[in-house]
Amino acid sequence: MLKIAPSILTSSNRIESIKKLNNTDCSFIHIDVMDNKFVPNYQLPIEEVIELSKISTKKFDIHLMVEDPVEYINSLKINNIYNISFHIEINKDIDKIIRLIKSKGYSVGLAIKPNTPLELLDKYLNDVDIILVMSVEPGFGNQKFIEKTIERIKYIRNKKSDILIEVDGGINEDTINKIKLISDIAVVGSYITNKDNYQEAINNLKN
Ligand code: DX5
Ligand code: ZN
Repeated sequence: MLKIAPSILTSSNRIESIKKLNNTDCSFIHIDVMDNKFVPNYQLPIEEVIELSKISTKKFDIHLMVEDPVEYINSLKINNIYNISFHIEINKDIDKIIRLIKSKGYSVGLAIKPNTPLELLDKYLNDVDIILVMSVEPGFGNQKFIEKTIERIKYIRNKKSDILIEVDGGINEDTINKIKLISDIAVVGSYITNKDNYQEAINNLKN
């Protein structure tokens, strides 16, 4: 069944949002980390992620939108990490970063932007747990779901049927129906954090 990973990126009060999410049945909390180089935004500094982790009773699904993930991975000294994803588009030794994340005992995700050729993923499909398929250009919440994501998910599923596929960006109670049956984890930001009742929003997504 599809898991929901709420993103708190655009919440106006992230501490409050974490507390509210603790009381929902969401699977993980999706944490976006950006360096203002890989994407033109600087959000959720590591210090804030560490502070939030102290409040959260849910595990974190960390999405690194950064040029150099190694320093970020090493400074994430928190206990509740489920997964760390980083982007295939960076000009770094991908295998080495996969090994680093695994050595810490976390699940590993490889993220891909909407216009990056999917063939680049092929040689890593046996080495990672999750492919994080971006359904918007990374950097900001509140954007519109890109329709061709559906074909991209199907391509990956065809290549490796048992890999976890996580979809991120523009998901709401309508667009979720396009990915529900073909993916495993839906990242949902503004649709949830714009609502008062988070559990009700999550229920709307699941039904
Ligand atoms: C965008 C981030 C997303 C974002 C999703 O770069 O990776 O996780 O928070 O927000 P919505 O659901 O509002 O598109
Ligand atoms: Zn994200």
